Amino acid sequence: MPFPSDTNPDTEVFALIDAEVQRQVTGLQLIASENFTSPAVMRAVGSALTNKYSEGYPGKRYYGGNAVVDSIEGLAIERVKALFGADHANVQPHSGANANMCAYQAVLQQGDTVLGLSLDHGGHLTHGSPVNASGMYYHFIPYKVTPGDERIDMDQVRDLALEHRPKMIVAGTTSYPRRLDPAAFKAIADEVGALFLFDAAHIAGLIAGGVAPNPVPYADIVTFTTHKTLRGPRGGTILCKKEFAQAVDKAVFPGWQGGPLEHVIAGKAVAFFEAAQPSFKAYAAQVVANASALAEALVGQGFRLVSGGTDNHLMVVDLRPFDADLTGKEAQAVLDEGGVTLNKNTIPDDPRSPFVTSGVRIGTPSVTTQGMKEPQMAEIAALIARILRHRDDPAAVAAAKADVAALCAQFPAYG
Ligand SMILES: Cc1ncc(COP(=O)(O)O)c(C=O)c1O
Repeated sequence: MPFPSDTNPDTEVFALIDAEVQRQVTGLQLIASENFTSPAVMRAVGSALTNKYSEGYPGKRYYGGNAVVDSIEGLAIERVKALFGADHANVQPHSGANANMCAYQAVLQQGDTVLGLSLDHGGHLTHGSPVNASGMYYHFIPYKVTPGDERIDMDQVRDLALEHRPKMIVAGTTSYPRRLDPAAFKAIADEVGALFLFDAAHIAGLIAGGVAPNPVPYADIVTFTTHKTLRGPRGGTILCKKEFAQAVDKAVFPGWQGGPLEHVIAGKAVAFFEAAQPSFKAYAAQVVANASALAEALVGQGFRLVSGGTDNHLMVVDLRPFDADLTGKEAQAVLDEGGVTLNKNTIPDDPRSPFVTSGVRIGTPSVTTQGMKEPQMAEIAALIARILRHRDDPAAVAAAKADVAALCAQFPAYG
């Protein structure tokens, strides 16, 4: 039987994919959790591996025909263990959220107490938000940033740990611009006899590139996404100490997932290979240098940055000093019209709702992959300020969009 595309090609979907590629390469992609993955990763993800069922693990599958898949998954496992110095790796989680739920299931009982960073202070939904399964199955106690310096309050983490005696402490962030200290979290976890999970979803690439501290020596379990700073395919991974290996593997399959996505696992293997190259160290360092440069330039344009700046790949911008009437929601919408893609974001103790917000989050992983450096960060800050200042003038926004496209054309995402 011929495939339908021979006689009746699906022009509709492929025209839409082409439109999305156009959007990605003609605008500035500043969403901190996104990146441009390599053509090699995309080739693996688009491969015939998508046809294969391989429930189980290398050497222990429920279906036949898995010799090649075993080699691929084995490569991904060995590469990621070497990259982060881990005892054990599970590369099957379909996403970062799955990785976290699997990790919790591996070592917690329903109702156990866990400490996690509050969502509105930079944590993730899967760190105990009441609308997420993590918050429904486990008793999460949120810790926060201090009102003064807007950095995670380690004294509060310790006080809450001593008061609530959690089974686990979760460190890890979604919209937090400062460095986490895995050793400090580990010391508190040890003091109260808690397990320590580090969710490195955002900073996995910075860790692999040597510009953020590696939590693996300290944490019992480390989860991360492969598609953010690590620049791989969309998915999750769990690393853990030997003693949790069996429980983690059981929690992923058959606990939470069925057949693994071996085409994505092949993409992860490629990404782990790429992240081990010397050029990735230079990339990670430039991501951080670009974030610093962009932060400084935004302050020069009259914005306030949560915690005063950034140590990593992202910043959270408080829009109020720039324009007290401007909300994150409105800024996101008008910047989208101007070809600048970012997301609205709450600032700590935001007086506005999470659907409106007083801030935006900005990240540099994608523009750094394109080859942009510090001079372009100043241009980006100026473009953002220009679009927001002229947000009521469609002609001015359209003119800025043309300048955004001209800048992006100098730095093609895909060569
Ligand atoms: C800290 C953190 N953990 C987990 C996740 C979830 O990842 P995914 O969207 O792949 O489920 C994210 C995603 O943004 C994240 O920032």
